[in-house]
Amino acid sequence: MAVGVFDSGVGGLTIHRELSARLPGADLVYFSDQAHMPYGPRSGAQIVELTQRACERLFAEGCELIVLACNTASAVALRQLQTQWLPQLRRGRARPANILGIIVPTIEAVTGKPWRGPHSPGSTEPRRCVGVFATQATARSQVYEIEIAKRRGDLVAVTEACKGLAALIEQGAPRAELAAVIKEHVAAVAARAGGPPHKVILGCTHYEVCADLFREALPASVELIQQPHATADSLLAYLARHPEYSAGHEGRRRFLTTGRPGTQHRLVETFWGGPLAFEAA
Ligand code: DGL
Repeated sequence: MAVGVFDSGVGGLTIHRELSARLPGADLVYFSDQAHMPYGPRSGAQIVELTQRACERLFAEGCELIVLACNTASAVALRQLQTQWLPQLRRGRARPANILGIIVPTIEAVTGKPWRGPHSPGSTEPRRCVGVFATQATARSQVYEIEIAKRRGDLVAVTEACKGLAALIEQGAPRAELAAVIKEHVAAVAARAGGPPHKVILGCTHYEVCADLFREALPASVELIQQPHATADSLLAYLARHPEYSAGHEGRRRFLTTGRPGTQHRLVETFWGGPLAFEAA
């Protein structure tokens, strides 16, 4: 009995850190698919297959609930896994099983409206921009544009595909290099929106590792949506509504990777606040 936390790499640690703080007694298993990272440039079919494989491993590890701490997997694979894979998996299991994503809580946080409708977009004036920084696959899905437009006619999402940025963070690139890339993407959103955005979503969990660099590149008035916080709120509410799921009670923490086991680089350790050792998945 545990909660699984999945990402293609180290980005999901930003969600894990918040879940861990809010659920100290829960048993958490983090799975990082570093052998196949980045997911952003991959096809939809590949992202679905890799995400399913990771979830199989987490369910085999004793997880009942899995949080896809990855916008790309949540945008591209979640619905297909929930509708086409989970029903058959549940038939062969004694314990419940579900997979949750991080886009639903993020949409709720940015729009201030619950996920489930009925929705009306309401007023369309004035149209203020929500800047979304994301991988190519998340940008291609247009999930943020579509779901925000359904709920808030006064907000318009502008998604900037930040090609290569997640991989740079995964490799532990120097902060000066990351700052320069982030500045360019922030300028690109402002140019497309005709000015700085009103709110910003770091729509790739890797970017949260250097949220301070986004903060520096944006005007102080811009509201940065807290995806880890929104995800933790949503998981706690889910567990309260679904007592059939147990998050475990021993406070165990395991970190699995399909990549190289051992410690991570300095950028991650600085974010994490200390050394973090991964086991081979
Ligand atoms: N951290 C991931 C996300 O939130 C994916 C990064 C990648 O593998 O491209 O989208």
